Parts: sequence; C-alpha cells; structure tokens
Amino acid sequence: MRKRLLEKILNTKQVRVPIWKSFDLIGDLVLLKAPISEAEIGLELLAEYKKVGEALLNELPYVKGVFLSLTPVMGEFRLRKVLHLAGTRRTWTYYREHGCVFKVDLESAYISPRLSYEHSRIAKLVRSGELIVNMFSGVGGFSIIIAKKANPARVISIDKNPAAHRLLVENVNLNHVEESVVPVLGDAVDAIMGSLKGVADRVLLPLPSFSPRFYLAALEALGDRGVLHFYEFVELEKEEKREGLIMKAYKRVETVLKQVMDCARAELLSGRIVRSVGPRLYQVSLDVFIDKMSCR
Ligand SMILES: C[S@@+](CC[C@H](N)C(=O)[O-])C[C@H]1O[C@@H](n2cnc3c(N)ncnc32)[C@H](O)[C@@H]1O
Repeated sequence: MRKRLLEKILNTKQVRVPIWKSFDLIGDLVLLKAPISEAEIGLELLAEYKKVGEALLNELPYVKGVFLSLTPVMGEFRLRKVLHLAGTRRTWTYYREHGCVFKVDLESAYISPRLSYEHSRIAKLVRSGELIVNMFSGVGGFSIIIAKKANPARVISIDKNPAAHRLLVENVNLNHVEESVVPVLGDAVDAIMGSLKGVADRVLLPLPSFSPRFYLAALEALGDRGVLHFYEFVELEKEEKREGLIMKAYKRVETVLKQVMDCARAELLSGRIVRSVGPRLYQVSLDVFIDKMSCR
C-alpha cells in the first residue's frame, strides 16, 4: 500500500528521483530512503524530493513531518543521517508498538519498525521469573515489550549511546515498567564482565556483529543453561537458496561460540529471516540453547 502510494505520487508529480519504494512510518513522521549520498544531492534534486515530502503530507493527514535517510544505519550507535523534506523539523516522536509507547528520535538513537514482529516473538518465549540481559537495548523495543507482555524478574537493558539510554529511561516510565526494566548506560561487555556473570536465563544480542567479544560476554552472562538470541546479517550468494540462510548464519555463530567457549554446548532452537537489509543481504534471528554444565 505504501509502495503504491509512493508510485502514485512519483507519477502524478512527475518526479524522477532515486528512491526506495517503501518507507517507514514512525509515529507521526515518515522516513523515506534513497540510494544517494548527501554530496550527490544538489538543490534541484532536493527540490524534487521535497515535492514527494509535501505530497505525502497531503495524502497522509496524520503525518506531520517527512525526512529522507541518506545513509544506511552506521557506526557503533547504528545511526542514520536524515534530511528534512516537509512539515515539522522535529525528529522525535511517539511511536506505538504492541500496546506500548516509545519516545524515539530518528537522528540520535536507533529505531526500526521492522523489528516489531521480533519484539513480540521474543516476549512470547519468556517464562515467568526469568532474568534477561538485553546487551543492545536501544530505546527499549525488546525490553519494554517483554516487561509488558511477559512476567520477567528483570530485563537488564544496556546501551552505550547516551541518547538511546535517555529515551529508554523515559520509555520505562511512560510504560510503567520501572520494577522490571533496569536501564544501564555503557558498554555491554564491560557491564556483564563487571557484575552480570552467570545471572541470566536469556540474553539478547540485537546488534549484528558475529563478534567474539560480544559472544563471550553473552555466554558469561548466562547461568548454567539458557538461551541466546542472535541477530546477524548474512549474504545470499548467487547459487544459494534463501532457505539455506538460517543454517549458514548458525554455522558462523556456532564457530564463534566454540572459539570463545569450547566447553559450552549449543543447540539451534529456531531461526527466521527477519528482513532484507540490502541487495542479497538479510538479517536472520537465531534462538540458541546453551548448556555450560561441562564448563564447570
Ligand atoms: C540495532 S540497535 C538496537 C535495537 C533495539 N534492540 C531495538 O529493538 O530497537 C543496536 C544498539 O546497540 C548499541 N551498542 C552498540 N555497541 C554497543 C556496546 N558495545 N554496548 C552496548 N550497546 C551498544 C547502539 O547504541 C544501538 O542502540
């Protein structure tokens, strides 16, 4: 439906600009995406993009501002550079997901409505009384929905980006989950190695990395047994089938797990392709059961 709307606008306004045909609707803001850098956008092209922004404002009365993302999410904090096209210049908004409300900011903290299904899927797996460590909590998508929908003892929610942490603290209050969600500002590895070893039933790693440092910390955070949730990016080579992506990602995860803690037994519980994130590049989620009994 969004794709059709954008196509209609491009045709009726006779606009020819490089643009991805789907867009994100985040609260009362629209985020368009284009395969073009800021340096390539001259005044003429910007005027064309602005026409698209104005048309979207007219077509969608609840939308107050339209922005164009010129980069994929980048850097340690997974941020994107956005350009204002139409309506309000405010980059923050309130965004609803699964009955929870989130204050988000397109520029200063990571947000993607495309993780919505995963937020609720993980919440459904959580059993009453679990202690969860969310190593990369962002503004709280997983943590707050888990706290609202399940009955965890604690969801320790770590993020290194001060802006994401501030929004998380606000969101904890907005959703009245102060008793179960514990926001922690800092590096996830430092936080776990400092005071969270052996405490968790479940650890979330919603930051694609295949990083031995993060994997070791996640294993250390778990008690004798527990579940790790990985979110990794994998490429689909020319001869490969999409169905093979889960096992391809798991083989890499398994190799890194073995490398950092050989004594831990890993078993893939389930996997799914979350979304396409670029040409032949996919995000895959993997739920992996870990048994560390033989590490004792
Ligand atoms: C993909 S985003 C998280 C998305 C979030 N879980 C959600 O559901 O919306 C990854 C987050 O990891 C944070 N981050 C990156 N490196 C980190 C580290 N070493 N320790 C803690 N947080 C980190 C970033 O600031 C960013 O907010």
